[in-house]
Amino acid sequence: MAEQAGDPLFQSHDPIFNRKELLHVGHVPDEDRIVGRDDEIQSVAAEVGAITRGDPPNNVMIYGKTGTGKSLISRHVATRAQDAARNNDIDCGVLYVDCSEANTETRATRQLALSLKEQTGYQQNIPLRGVGTMEYYQHIWRILEGFFDAIIVILDEIDKLDNSNILMQLSRAREAQKTDAYIGVIGISNKVKYRETLDERIDSSFGHRELFFHPYDASQLREIMRNREDAFQPNVLEDGTIELCAALAAKKHGDARKAIEILKEAGELARRTGSETVSEQHIQQAQEVAEINRIEELTSGATVHAKLALYALASRIITGDRETHKTREIYERYVGICEMVATDPITENGLYRQLKEQAFLGVIESEKTGGGRSQGSYLLHRLVTDPKHIIKAVRRDSSLEDLPAYDRLADGGSETRDRDVELSSFS
Ligand SMILES: Nc1ncnc2c1ncn2[C@@H]1O[C@H](COP(=O)(O)OP(=O)(O)OP(=O)(O)O)[C@@H](O)[C@H]1O
Ligand SMILES: [Mg+2]
Repeated sequence: MAEQAGDPLFQSHDPIFNRKELLHVGHVPDEDRIVGRDDEIQSVAAEVGAITRGDPPNNVMIYGKTGTGKSLISRHVATRAQDAARNNDIDCGVLYVDCSEANTETRATRQLALSLKEQTGYQQNIPLRGVGTMEYYQHIWRILEGFFDAIIVILDEIDKLDNSNILMQLSRAREAQKTDAYIGVIGISNKVKYRETLDERIDSSFGHRELFFHPYDASQLREIMRNREDAFQPNVLEDGTIELCAALAAKKHGDARKAIEILKEAGELARRTGSETVSEQHIQQAQEVAEINRIEELTSGATVHAKLALYALASRIITGDRETHKTREIYERYVGICEMVATDPITENGLYRQLKEQAFLGVIESEKTGGGRSQGSYLLHRLVTDPKHIIKAVRRDSSLEDLPAYDRLADGGSETRDRDVELSSFS
């Protein structure tokens, strides 16, 4: 009796997911699942493509917000260039360095040297420690001399590198007669600010083109998710769910990674609640969870005062009738909240600085408003996201979990608002 085999505690059949791995964060989609970036693929190929014909490539810097396909497209094009080069009897290597981990020149060059060795029959020992950058460069040049006509080096999250010397070394290598191999660098960053400082960091030897990847629009996100529909069992996704997920993600950030995460979270919600299908409601809920996670992530390094300031602003918005509040108004509520959690408040000026920091993180927007010459100008702060999400995210901090759950107040409508004594006692 096949049905009785196995422990019923662990169902062997997943009623919701079929190939869940397609929705995992680290999953790299196959070529035929990459959609909506044809122009970007063409552009990157145009910069590095000369390698496949035995000519020198251009260096390229790719900028764009998180989840816009920068890493994916770079690797994809580099691998295809490598294959195309092989067809022309050109030995082209592809090297990928995640500079958020290899964040010094020593670490980055060590990784380059080690992966070059791995890809070839290079015999010499490359020490893991105790040697400097120069020795790693020596190995790199020797391996290039011995085994390659060209290499494409992808430096991902390049803004995390503590200096940009590696760019100069790689671009001058031929001129300095270190190697005859052509080297094409693809640098990637999601910090537009990095672009402004890049010219100061490097000299003209690192000539490069710039490409900008834009956030995905709703129809592109729809296509990306449609292409992974088989992550779910047949007929589990209700009509309209992918469309809704795409519309929400496009409105918020246009981030493909986030959109896919929301879809997966919606499936998990459906499974947890014993539902047979994934509905629009599951998507809505998953989107909220994702947004709260995002805010928690953004504010994770913030001080308790910054969190209380956000909480104060969110609670004022929920209990009041305005979206924007002055620093002074936020400060007054903040002082009351500090009392509740037995924390000494910082000064109003200190709080103002904390609010500015949050504006920088993209959680709030602050706008200067003139009250006429005699009154002077003041700042008005608004939340970029739903105040309920802020309240939830702040209360996830274990030292702040006893703060009133204003988010429930917002859900409960005006009736609760009048009755809730504890909450209204602050306003
Ligand atoms: N055009 C696309 N087609 C299919 N899936 C995509 C596409 N773009 C992105 N994705 C999915 O989203 C994930 C994130 O993309 P990617 O890692 O390339 O973003 P990124 O721009 O490098 O973001 P970050 O700046 O955060 O590193 C990918 O692993 C992939 O699963
Ligand atoms: Mg990336």
